[in-house]
Amino acid sequence: MTAAICPGSFDPLTNGHVDVITRAVALFDRVVVAVVENPSKSPLFDLEERLALIRSAFADVPSVEVRAFSGLLVDLVVTERIDAIVKGLRAGGDFDYELQMAQMNQHLSGVETVFLPTSPEWSYVSSSLVREVARLGGSVDALLPPRVAKAVKEKLS
Ligand code: PNS
Repeated sequence: MTAAICPGSFDPLTNGHVDVITRAVALFDRVVVAVVENPSKSPLFDLEERLALIRSAFADVPSVEVRAFSGLLVDLVVTERIDAIVKGLRAGGDFDYELQMAQMNQHLSGVETVFLPTSPEWSYVSSSLVREVARLGGSVDALLPPRVAKAVKEKLS
């Protein structure tokens, strides 16, 4: 039984996240989506809202578990008996920071990070840009699962 963890702020869950998590489901028996309790950037959704939106997006995928975490990711990796951290990699900008985190997590616990190249369709999509565009009145509907798009509209109305 192999297990992966997909960590992040998910503020909000985007189609890019859904793509990476869905591809992790194809590679691992169990996928834990780990939602950090206190994202550093100015949050749009609180923790319970982020958890509920992710759970609804993966309601029909039994191998996906969604849970909150605080503190070090590697502590959760140990308690959840995780084999690999799975991260999506967009264009060059992501690489330096993601490499540093992967190496630090490997140093701390020995866990490996598996990078999945983001599908080109979603390569420009990030939660922070989605928040910015939505807050400024732009349409982000095509970049989000339908329930998330609805929740963003309600939040900003
Ligand atoms: O979606 P994000 O904001 O890019 O996710 C970043 C996240 C949550 C994966 C990262 O900040 C993290 O792992 N935080 C937990 C604290 C931790 O373990 N920090 C050391 C990382 S090497």
